[in-house]
Amino acid sequence: MSNTITLFQKAKESGRPLALVTAYDATMAALAQAAGVDALLVGDSLGMVVQGSDNTLSVTLHEMIYHTKLVVRGAPDMFVITDLPFMSYQVSPENALRSAGLALKEGRAHAVKLEGGEEITPQVRALIAAGIPVMAHLGLQPQSIHLYGGYGKRGKTAAEQRKLLASAQALQDAGAFALVLENIPHNLAAEITRTLEMPTIGIGAGPACDGQVQVFHDLLGLRPGFKPRHAKRYTEAGRTIIKGLARFVQEVREGSFVSR
Ligand code: KIV
Repeated sequence: MSNTITLFQKAKESGRPLALVTAYDATMAALAQAAGVDALLVGDSLGMVVQGSDNTLSVTLHEMIYHTKLVVRGAPDMFVITDLPFMSYQVSPENALRSAGLALKEGRAHAVKLEGGEEITPQVRALIAAGIPVMAHLGLQPQSIHLYGGYGKRGKTAAEQRKLLASAQALQDAGAFALVLENIPHNLAAEITRTLEMPTIGIGAGPACDGQVQVFHDLLGLRPGFKPRHAKRYTEAGRTIIKGLARFVQEVREGSFVSR
């Protein structure tokens, strides 16, 4: 397993797809490392799956740094990318530099991820110039949820598709090392993947991407009542946990619980 950025370019060149998951604490990170996951994303999805919000907008840079520290501690051999949260980079390249600098210095992340297209290329260029690797994120950008009015597919019209292709190229030209494509038509993701030299990492973007990223809780069924369409469930960990806890409760109430 490599824990440097070279992992991404090598994967694109060799055609070996990359498997990424999100992680928010040391236990999850250690489990992912043991499973052979290629790299970890400390996603601002933590606003929803850890903090219980209905979107990612309220997550702060301070919270991202805190969770990144935990993840890096749990999986010291892995490449860890952290999301720059809403309004910690959109304002200006200086804003992005300060935020990303803290994510690397204090959180000990190896790279940052930013949502956005051509409009954020000044930020991407400034970060690369400062030695900070950038993963870009196009398609459904959860930080723009109020603009979209929902979590549905993006890139459905010809105009939107042209814009996404141009943005993907612009982000590559600005120096991004990889591109997350979220919830876009599979044929569009395939076209973007063919066009780019940097790897694409899909979530709800079909099998042609150079890798896939999934939210830890969605893959493992940690939220039993919630199953996004793009997520495949490999186990029902949430139900297993509820059963285990219910047995504990029952044994305590019956007086049969014994621990050493
Ligand atoms: O925040 C997140 O977890 C993400 C992934 C779903 C790509 O951005």
